Amino acid sequence: MRTFLGALMVLIVSGDETTIQGVLDDSVLLPCTCSESKKYFDWQMDEPKPMPVFIYNENDSSRYKGRIKTFLSENSTNCSILLTNITAEDQGKYSCRFKSEGVYYKSFVYLNVSANYSVCQTNNSVSGGLKVFQCKVIGRYREAWIQWTLHGQNLTNSKTINITNTTNTDAATGLYSFNSSLSTELNWNLTPMCEVKAKTISTTFISGCDGTKAAGTGNPQADRMRHRWLTILPVGLVLGLFLFLLYLSQLRSLPPTRN
Ligand SMILES: *[C@@H]1O[C@H](CO)[C@@H](O)[C@H](O)[C@H]1NC(C)=O
Ligand SMILES: *[C@@H]1O[C@H](CO)[C@@H](O)[C@H](O)[C@H]1NC(C)=O
Ligand SMILES: *[C@@H]1O[C@H](CO)[C@@H](O)[C@H](O)[C@H]1NC(C)=O
Ligand SMILES: *[C@@H]1O[C@H](CO)[C@@H](O)[C@H](O)[C@H]1NC(C)=O
Ligand SMILES: *[C@@H]1O[C@H](CO)[C@@H](O)[C@H](O)[C@H]1NC(C)=O
Repeated sequence: MRTFLGALMVLIVSGDETTIQGVLDDSVLLPCTCSESKKYFDWQMDEPKPMPVFIYNENDSSRYKGRIKTFLSENSTNCSILLTNITAEDQGKYSCRFKSEGVYYKSFVYLNVSANYSVCQTNNSVSGGLKVFQCKVIGRYREAWIQWTLHGQNLTNSKTINITNTTNTDAATGLYSFNSSLSTELNWNLTPMCEVKAKTISTTFISGCDGTKAAGTGNPQADRMRHRWLTILPVGLVLGLFLFLLYLSQLRSLPPTRN
């Protein structure tokens, strides 16, 4: 009976999924508070691609190799990890798991990755009856493009709109620059907006034409770090408890024995 109970795994899952903002090439703290008496702890990516990130007392797995810093030696209840040199592939759902007194704990963190870009839209000029709009974007993430919008609608090449895009790499700085020129004979009374979009990750506008920092955009690190543990009782555990109580009540009804 006892063996049967011992085989039942108690799993406690944190109810909150904290969202953490990380910036490409930067570093980010993935928070996890664990218990003093843990015997084991690990981090893994659950989505989009399940893979180990860090396993206590084991060597780093390849993709995260050399990019994980732990704090356990400073604080034995700190199972957080610092992930450095963030890549676009790092975006996703992570879980921190640890085992304490036979109970497994699991909490989730969603890492949202964004890339910084400076965006410079220059004044429209008129040449040969055409209105011309220019946009120049510079950033570290290559999988990006310039999107023009007017009244919230995406603009694309058509009979009346000519959009020409170019991409360049600055080998010295490793920065990518994207140019876009939009010309039209249409008589818009609003100026089209130039935005930068990136594949799978989000983009953050950090500066404009004069290189000045935009207000209110920084690097929002870990927000709201609360831990509300939500207990999920597996059906097996409920059944186990029931059997255990049954077993106890049977013990009580038997004449006392000693061995
Ligand atoms: C863990 O340690 C890091 C680095 O000192 C700190 O920033 C973080 O707040 C700590 N986290 C917890 C959950 O104690
Ligand atoms: C992280 O980036 C720094 C600076 O760009 C570089 O020197 C270092 O080798 C990188 N580390 C890893 C593990 O990629
Ligand atoms: C990621 O953060 C950006 C803001 O930086 C936000 O617009 C976007 O919706 C977030 N994405 C997810 C999946 O949380
Ligand atoms: C679009 O503009 C570019 C230069 O701005 C020009 O070379 C190209 O011929 C134009 N394409 C059309 C279809 O008008
Ligand atoms: C982008 O535009 C800037 C100025 O508008 C120009 O100096 C630069 O050469 C252009 N780059 C490309 C790749 O067209």
